[in-house]
Amino acid sequence: EIYGGERRNSKGLNIHIAAHLNPLMSHLAEWRNTSWDAGPVINGTRRRDGERSEVRSPYDQTQSVGYVVWANESHAAEAVEVAASGFRKWSERPVEDRARCLEKYADLMEAHMEELMAICCREAGKTMQDGIDEVREAVDFCRYYAIQGRARFGKAIALPGPTGESNELYMEGRGVFLCISPWNFPLAIFTGQIMAALVAGNTVIAKPAEKTSLLAHRATELMLEAGFPPDVIQLLPGDGGTIGGKLTPDPRIAGIAFTGSTQVAHILNRTLALREGPIVPLIAETGGQNAMIVDSSALPEQVVQDVLQSAFASAGQRCSALRVLYLQQDVAERMETLLAGAMRELSVGNPELYSTDVGPVIDEEAQSALQQHLQELESSARFIARAPVPPACQAGYFIAPSAYGISGIHELKTEHFGPILHVVRYKAEKLDEVIDEINSAGYGLTLGIHSRSESTAAYIEQRVKVGNCYINRNQVGAVVGVQPFGGRGLSGTGPKAGGPHYLLRFATERTRTINT
Ligand code: SER
Repeated sequence: EIYGGERRNSKGLNIHIAAHLNPLMSHLAEWRNTSWDAGPVINGTRRRDGERSEVRSPYDQTQSVGYVVWANESHAAEAVEVAASGFRKWSERPVEDRARCLEKYADLMEAHMEELMAICCREAGKTMQDGIDEVREAVDFCRYYAIQGRARFGKAIALPGPTGESNELYMEGRGVFLCISPWNFPLAIFTGQIMAALVAGNTVIAKPAEKTSLLAHRATELMLEAGFPPDVIQLLPGDGGTIGGKLTPDPRIAGIAFTGSTQVAHILNRTLALREGPIVPLIAETGGQNAMIVDSSALPEQVVQDVLQSAFASAGQRCSALRVLYLQQDVAERMETLLAGAMRELSVGNPELYSTDVGPVIDEEAQSALQQHLQELESSARFIARAPVPPACQAGYFIAPSAYGISGIHELKTEHFGPILHVVRYKAEKLDEVIDEINSAGYGLTLGIHSRSESTAAYIEQRVKVGNCYINRNQVGAVVGVQPFGGRGLSGTGPKAGGPHYLLRFATERTRTINT
């Protein structure tokens, strides 16, 4: 029996079909000159009392996308007050009411799909396909967690006991959850964390990535329109150190859901460990140093297609993205030649064009860190290929998708969050060393395997310690309820987002025993 088999994920749109593409393009054009406006939202009130900055598009710095008023420490203090006072009422509402708000919000996101896509594209530099997938994933999280919420929180589990005694176990919200989300999935992860916390009966303070505050703000407006009470969701766009620094030590924060760097997860973990008051969970989803192992039985064309998707889609800015490709020596030359040919065909440029495969990276800081890494590779590694970048890209933060040969994953000291692929050739008899090396990097998020030998694939899968293993396909784009997503070790704590156990970490359990 397939778990959750009756449920359907949202269909999205197929931009390769004119009947889908043409209306989408004309709707998107309507948003081309819009300027969005964001700021803290506390108890349903949009705040304008704070420092304000202009947001410019990562693919064209001459284009303004909108303005953000940044939340400060006093907004954070107000937000925690409101969220703490809203908790009792919200947690006592039947889960059915809470789940319906999630579903209404999902419907509203679908109704506003073009606007949300347009913000995704202009503020985060996402391609059209990524924008579609982003809205779809956010919608799927809502509908999935609504179903999971009803199943987990709807009724108590009856437990055995002696005659004259009734025993039951049930779940309830913990209190105020702080949800800190990243810019690389500015709607999907933002939504997923918040909805999980809310359906479980918590109230939420959301701290979105600074880079994608406009999208977070628009999404928060839709949440309020969907019927979430104003004291249940507070939005604080702003600096992580300021907002996180103020809230994490506050004993009213009953849990933190964080997606971002391993380094920040460590800071949050330390702060929670040192504070007085209740001991609370940290749900962290962090980085990866993800590998793919390709043996000599693999289908070359399929490998090339899956490597392109895994390493360069979303400009390599996915925590699941492929960073180190291990090619068995016997087929490496041929695979690299095919890969180089395919890379030269990648279309890099304006993400608003439907033909664009790879858009910009998020900002100047990301661009210069990646450029520096490319310079180092240029002097120390073997050049394989680079995709052409048109001159028009000079107004934005572009990095040419590139591939270099290195000797092993140990050469990479940090995660290089962009479209740079490292290729390692290995001898068949050294497979165990490859596996040990991948494990020794300490991360454990995704792994790709390409092999037509089932026993080899099963052996590698069993030995490499990761959260998500993909065999004979690409290793990105986990689907809600289908590929629950999340890693281990330096890659995070679990539980897996979009999986059946995710909500449980947002809740606390209670046992009720009655002498009848
Ligand atoms: N969930 C995303 C993926 O699977 C990564 O964050 O690509």
